Amino acid sequence: MQDMDLKTSVKGQVLAINDLPTLPGVLDEVTKLVENPETSTEEIASVIVKDQVLSAKVLKMVNSPVYGFPGRISSIQHGLVLLGFNVIRGIIISTSVFDMMVQAMKGLWEHSLGCATASGIIARHAGFDDPEEYAVAGLLHDLGKVVTAVQLPELHQKILDTVEKKNLSYYRAEKDILGFGHDRINAWLGRHWNLPGNIRAAMSRHHSPHMADLYKSTCCVVHLGDFMVRLFEFGTSGDDQTSYLRPEAMKELGFKMSDMERCMDELADQLLDVSDVTF
Ligand SMILES: [Fe+2]
Ligand SMILES: [Fe+2]
Repeated sequence: MQDMDLKTSVKGQVLAINDLPTLPGVLDEVTKLVENPETSTEEIASVIVKDQVLSAKVLKMVNSPVYGFPGRISSIQHGLVLLGFNVIRGIIISTSVFDMMVQAMKGLWEHSLGCATASGIIARHAGFDDPEEYAVAGLLHDLGKVVTAVQLPELHQKILDTVEKKNLSYYRAEKDILGFGHDRINAWLGRHWNLPGNIRAAMSRHHSPHMADLYKSTCCVVHLGDFMVRLFEFGTSGDDQTSYLRPEAMKELGFKMSDMERCMDELADQLLDVSDVTF
């Protein structure tokens, strides 16, 4: 009973994300525009470019090697046409929480960028359309950790201490301290922000892709991406453990060890280029 009370109160605190000062107003405006199928990319772009600082960050991000068009996207509108609204929206969210993420957990930004890069590579290798959508799901996959750090700093510190003292993974320690992991926080966050289903699924199921009801392949791609980037120790995600690789995820994508190796070779090359993407 006490545990349930704790969970309910923690959930309330986590969901008080009005305190997260970062999601820019243009995001709402743009989301509303997109709901109308008559809206053109020009109209959407014109709303985004009103915020010049944001536009500059988005342009930097879409031109990073993560998305496969390095240095070739000249405008927000061009980015919208090439990458689609979901990707641009995910990028707006990630650039908006960038400062907070860097403060919340050292190395988490690099881990997220690395996972985005890996997820794009894996999706391309699996032959999926729109690999950029997988990349942006990878970019946002650990956002729940930022929310804990910002909303619940004391419990966050306890999680970090538990990781160290008990030599646990961050995910395990979250479950010990909060009663749930960042995947659950991601699910609340995704619903709250009304994110597209594929991105929400990967955010909430990247640790348990075999249990995904929807968008299983996206969950499996991000699961493998997370695994690979941790193997390379590019950035950190709260602990230095090797994450468990779910064999079901490889099976779902039809991957053999040789496919994993090929993706990891490509990732090793690309990580050199993405290491300096900051704002
Ligand atoms: Fe995670
Ligand atoms: Fe991760």
